[in-house]
Amino acid sequence: MIFAAILAGGIGSRMGGTETPKQFLTLGDKPVIIHTIEKFVINSKFDKIIVLSPKSFINHTKNLINEYFGENNNIIVLAGGNTRNDTIINSIEYVKENFDIDDDSIIVTHDSVRPFVTHRIIEDNIKAAKEFGACDTVVPATDTIVESIDGELIKDIPIRDNFYQGQTPQSFRINKLYELINNLSDSETNILTDACKIFVLKGEDVHLVEGEITNIKITYPYDLKLANTILKESDHD
Ligand code: CTP
Repeated sequence: MIFAAILAGGIGSRMGGTETPKQFLTLGDKPVIIHTIEKFVINSKFDKIIVLSPKSFINHTKNLINEYFGENNNIIVLAGGNTRNDTIINSIEYVKENFDIDDDSIIVTHDSVRPFVTHRIIEDNIKAAKEFGACDTVVPATDTIVESIDGELIKDIPIRDNFYQGQTPQSFRINKLYELINNLSDSETNILTDACKIFVLKGEDVHLVEGEITNIKITYPYDLKLANTILKESDHD
């Protein structure tokens, strides 16, 4: 089976100046989160699309989904967790409680605030997760990476060709992810803010899927302006 988890449990503090988390702000003519969910709805491979929102926005999220996708949709809305990883855990617990999954079942986890994910990226994630067990979507780093421990002096300038910027989706065999998460110590849980890092730390392979520079994450107000520009450009294609 194949599941999607749209991670919308954050509050978007870096966006500032708004009570409404950034995933619910308007991009073009509809909320950011609706653009993102659409990309998954048009792919018929998903057995269920799980949308995880902040507790206080669950009703709002359900209403939006009914408005844009109708009442008979393949989408369920659940509460996210305190951290991004907790939100992912909520999605896999729901899957394990409600579906009879096998070891080949996968979940494609995606930031709700990356509305420009493409069909090709989602397909490549499904393929890579099925074949290899885990994958991360990345683009080659364009800026030189400078490492500093104290924020004052450079410790190292690593070779840029070996560095990539992580995007999403990140996709996994569900049973494997569940097993790894349940075996983390408390200190590991605190430092492992990224689900792919859990695989890496436990010595499991994580394959790279090629992302797109337009697959931006809306983090700061500037990103929403950029997203509007990308949207207008894509309308002209
Ligand atoms: N996310 C989530 N559950 C959390 C935290 C984040 O599902 N507890 C989601 C966000 O909703 C977002 C994605 O993970 O779609 C990427 O996280 P980020 O951009 O860091 O979002 P926020 O945590 O909302 O933003 P900020 O760090 O500025 O508060």
